[in-house]
Amino acid sequence: GAAELGPYRHYMQKEIFEQPRVVGDTLEGVTGIMPELFGDQAFRVFKEIDRVLILACGTSYYAGLTAKYWIESVAKLPVNVEIASEYRYRDSVPHPNTLVVTISQSGETADTLAALKHARSLGMTNTLTICNVSTSAMVRECKLAYITRAGVEVGVASTKAFTTQLAALFLLTLTLAQVNGRLTDEQEANYLKQMRHLPVALSSVLALEPQVIAWAEEFARKENALFLGRGIHYPIALEGALKLKEISYIHAEAYPAGELKHGPLALVTEEMPVVTIAPNDALLEKLKSNMQEVRARGGQLYVFADVDTHITSGEGLHVIRLPEHYGLLSPILHVAALQLLAYHTALARGTDVDKPRNLAKSVTVE
Ligand code: G6P
Repeated sequence: GAAELGPYRHYMQKEIFEQPRVVGDTLEGVTGIMPELFGDQAFRVFKEIDRVLILACGTSYYAGLTAKYWIESVAKLPVNVEIASEYRYRDSVPHPNTLVVTISQSGETADTLAALKHARSLGMTNTLTICNVSTSAMVRECKLAYITRAGVEVGVASTKAFTTQLAALFLLTLTLAQVNGRLTDEQEANYLKQMRHLPVALSSVLALEPQVIAWAEEFARKENALFLGRGIHYPIALEGALKLKEISYIHAEAYPAGELKHGPLALVTEEMPVVTIAPNDALLEKLKSNMQEVRARGGQLYVFADVDTHITSGEGLHVIRLPEHYGLLSPILHVAALQLLAYHTALARGTDVDKPRNLAKSVTVE
């Protein structure tokens, strides 16, 4: 009811603004990297495995895609990420030394549970879930678990569950790196410091809301949008596009920016807003030339740029500046800005934000 919503108009908005707290809660008590955070048997399991298979649906699948970039880069373990409904029905090549990771807000998604059982039937018994409901079927079915502390998520479009999943997956990345001898004490201390700073960093991204509202009024008049990201922000572009289509019903697609020239560039006209995630990372110069390709076709760029990227507003180029550059944890910050964009665009279009048509919070039947 209204009392629970406090100053917010919808649960989705409230849940977006809870993120600094619940991401903090999810990492609370983590004073060092240790396998036991994932369960009693975690050390033995993590020693045994030499690859990772992530299974999930929807927004949780995009958390998995982000984790692939993290785990391969930091822990140096090969990672496959599969949509649960595909994995459960296809012939795949099982490998016994696999850590099977399911990611699920509810812990009850039928396809993800079936995919888990399918993996187990193929002989992969080292299973871990990142889940928001400690009493769920998923937690009961898996050997290891990390419980996110997002609290109850009411909005059908997932927000705080996603960012807490990312926080947990980053912790998993560091833990696998440590067990693999890939994490120095100094790196551990640095990452822990960055993780502790997340709530403050997230709050300063959420403070950009007024600027995002101004963009949302323009987006509300569009029927299509393109989202671009590269590297760890490609999955975030996917999630931003998913949020926009779920609640505003604007057709949105996401592409890794380097793939523009292989198709989506054909769609770019003055009518096409192109949301670009521009962190200050090794791919920035490449991204800038992708942006130039869009501008040359008259496309309207809406760029979420990190503080020190030197990307400034101009003709056909709109910039919202994120307060910090956040390295590997940057996806957690950039996605919060995209959630606000989807929310305010839907609000301006007058849709039922918390209960989008045809969608359910948790899909427990196939
Ligand atoms: C539904 C929800 C999505 C969610 C997906 C997977 O489609 O609307 O928000 O990402 O299910 O749910 P899970 O509970 O397994 O994360």
